[in-house]
Amino acid sequence: MATLFLRGSILHFLRDPGAPADPGAWEYWDDGCLKVVDGRVAALGPADAILKARGARDALHDHRGKLILPGFVDTHVHYAQVDVIASYGRQLLDWLNDYTFPVERAFADPAHARRIASLFLDTLLRHGTTTAAVYPTVHKQSVDAFFEEAQQRGMRMICGKILMDRNSPDYLRDDVAGAEADCRDLIQRWHGKGRLGYALTPRFAPTSSREQLAMAGRLYAEYPGVWMQTHLAENVDEVRWVKELFPEARSYLDVYDRHGLLGPRSVFAHCIHLDPEDRARFVASDSAMSFCPTSNLFIGSGFFDLEAARSRGVRVGLATDVGGGTSYSMLQTLAEAYKVLMTDGQRLNAWRGLWLATLGGAACLSLDDRIGNFRIGKEADCVVLDLAATPVLARRMEVARTLEERLFALMMLGDDRALSATYILGKEAFSDERPC
Ligand code: GUN
Ligand code: ZN
Repeated sequence: MATLFLRGSILHFLRDPGAPADPGAWEYWDDGCLKVVDGRVAALGPADAILKARGARDALHDHRGKLILPGFVDTHVHYAQVDVIASYGRQLLDWLNDYTFPVERAFADPAHARRIASLFLDTLLRHGTTTAAVYPTVHKQSVDAFFEEAQQRGMRMICGKILMDRNSPDYLRDDVAGAEADCRDLIQRWHGKGRLGYALTPRFAPTSSREQLAMAGRLYAEYPGVWMQTHLAENVDEVRWVKELFPEARSYLDVYDRHGLLGPRSVFAHCIHLDPEDRARFVASDSAMSFCPTSNLFIGSGFFDLEAARSRGVRVGLATDVGGGTSYSMLQTLAEAYKVLMTDGQRLNAWRGLWLATLGGAACLSLDDRIGNFRIGKEADCVVLDLAATPVLARRMEVARTLEERLFALMMLGDDRALSATYILGKEAFSDERPC
């Protein structure tokens, strides 16, 4: 049995702290210790108590002075858009045509897919992200490449071939029968293999025929445990286009609903232009939303309403949405989330922010029984953060009077420079001393 003790300041969440924050929603030890046995949390508490159980041969990683959190969960990101990040001057539909589709074309080549998947996953580790729901491309081999690289790193990852059989370039188009065969094969080979899970991934309503959406709905019903991920109501021109393409539907969400794509394992990205009836359908179907603030600002899509979702009990996770999003850092993503919400008078406190980036994301992906906090038995993915990583952070920490102030400064000013180490199942996968 491999046993590791991780010592440092430890914070994790038991539920949504809300706003204003409920202190019963988290646990914090200034000098804490996490005991990990065979990749799972075995004990947690004050260092002096936990370390009493340390055997002579048990490893101890001493991160005193730093903050240990559960690994970050990015609920929506595109690994095939590594080369799209920071592309100038387009809103969604032009951004897809001018930048994104041409870049995704190259993933027909398995060697390219493997190289970018490797780069992407190492980038996530450098940013403290240990789990993500990931979009590849339409190509089956892009999924194989991604899962192979994720498996090598032991990371908990969700991914699935993009479905798109219309309104897109020939070189990125599949068809219903071929896509169905690919999905079945990929599900059989990858879903539930180690820490990997399959998501049926219609890109968005405009690029799938009714027949393809119906096929996705059939597979979703047929394979319990498989996820469904797609984009929803991101941009006003997109919403208008969906209305033209699906005049029979009451709303954009209703297009997916009619094809059996809502449910507890469904994750919809963006969810900006919704009405009260849509939100009621989210509640009734227990579907989840991804909040993608850097993307929503960068491609000029609009402002997500967190309160409208959370006050109804809708599960919400945070997401970078790279390459529409502009940062892999969940800390930077939180900073932008704060600003987006502030435009509407909503205040994202640091507790709720860090909950969103960890347990909230895990719950959004229906993985909160395995990851997201340090409850005994959970998978020991964690990050170690240096709150004084830059002179600006260090100075701000010096004058901060409370833990809450320090965490808020971290959330607003932190980025990958604050990453000291990332652990996957209790094994160091990234360290600022030994970068990957
Ligand atoms: N809608 C359909 N495809 C995409 C994509 O790749 N990125 C974003 N942000 N929105 C989309
Ligand atoms: Zn996206």
